[in-house]
Amino acid sequence: MRHLLSAADLDRPTAIQVLDTAVQMAATQAREIKKLPTLRGKTVVNLFFEDSTRTRISFETAAKRLSADVINFAAKGSSVSKGESLKDTAQTLQAMGADAVVIRHPASGAPHSLAHSGWVDTAVINAGDGTHQHPTQALLDAFTIRRHLSPGGVRRVGPGGDQGVGAGLDGLRVAIIGDILHSRVARSNVQLLSMLGAEVTLVGPPTLVPIGVETWPCQTSYDLDGVLATGPDAVMMLRVQRERMGGGGGGFFPSAAEYTHSYGLDARRIARLPEHSIVMHPGPMNRGLEISADAADSARAVIVEQVANGVAVRMAVLYLVLAGDSSAETSPDAGSSGPTGAAL
Ligand code: NCD
Repeated sequence: MRHLLSAADLDRPTAIQVLDTAVQMAATQAREIKKLPTLRGKTVVNLFFEDSTRTRISFETAAKRLSADVINFAAKGSSVSKGESLKDTAQTLQAMGADAVVIRHPASGAPHSLAHSGWVDTAVINAGDGTHQHPTQALLDAFTIRRHLSPGGVRRVGPGGDQGVGAGLDGLRVAIIGDILHSRVARSNVQLLSMLGAEVTLVGPPTLVPIGVETWPCQTSYDLDGVLATGPDAVMMLRVQRERMGGGGGGFFPSAAEYTHSYGLDARRIARLPEHSIVMHPGPMNRGLEISADAADSARAVIVEQVANGVAVRMAVLYLVLAGDSSAETSPDAGSSGPTGAAL
C-alpha cells in the first residue's frame, strides 16, 4: 500500500490484510509493554487542518507504539488559501524528512492533491477530508463489527472470540443512521462494509440524505423504526454535523427535539433490537440529540472500544504503508519477525 486516500482504494484482500494485521497489533496492546520497534527511524507527520480529538491522538499513539518519530502540525487557522498553504506546508514537511503524512483537511480531495501533486514524495494517509472520505474510521468500524459478530449475526464466543481472522462481513446487516449528507464516515463505511459483504442501509431525514445515493452500494430509508424492526446486526449512529450546516443547523430539520424523536437512538429503541446487535458511534457524540445518554452507555454500545480499536487499525495501516511491502528487514515474511516482532 503506497497511500490510503479512500476506502475505494482497498480491494477485499487488502482490506482483510489490514484487519488481520490489526488483530496482531491489538494483541500487542494488551501487553504490559506496548511499544514495538517496527517503525524505528521513520517520521510520521500529523497534519491537521480541522479539529480532531480522537483521530489525531489515535494516529499519534499508533505511530509512537510502533517507535516512529511523530510531529504534530495543527494547521487550523491558516489564512493562506488552501492550495498554497497545502503546497508550502507539504514542502516544509518534505524538507524535514517525513516518511508519511497523516492529513485531515476541510476540503474534500486535499489528501489526493497532496499524494498526486508531485509536491512531496511521502506516503499520504487520509484522516478525513471534508465530507468525502475517512478510510481509517471505516476500517476500525469493520474491525469492531468483525470482532463482535460472526457472519449471520451471531455473537462470537468469549472475550474477542476468534476475532474473525481472514473473514469478511458477509451477510451482516448494518444500519448507518443520521446526518449522511455531511458524513465522510458514512461514505467510507458504505464502500468498505459493502465490499466486505455486509448489507448496508442508510437511514436519515430526506434533507440529510445526499442526492445520488441510489448509485451507492446500499439501501436507503427514511424510517428508523422500520429499519430497526428488521433487526440489524450493527447500528451505527452519526453525529449531526452542525458545523457543516452553515450556521447552526437551520433548515435541515425542524427542531432538535423533532430530530431526536424521529432519528435518535434511545434505550426504548435499543430494547427492540436483537440481543446480539451492537451500537456504534464514531464520536464525538451529541448526547441527547442523535443518541441518548442511556443508549451511549448501554451494554450494547461498543463506542469506547471503537476508539481502542482505532489505535490497532492505524498501527496496521502505518505498518503496511511504511514497512509492509518495501523493506525486506521489516517484512512479515522476513525471518520470524512480523509487524509485531513476534513469530507469525
Ligand atoms: C468523525 C469525523 O471527524 O469525520 N469523527 C472521527 O473521526 N472520530 C465523525 C464526526 O466528526 O462526526
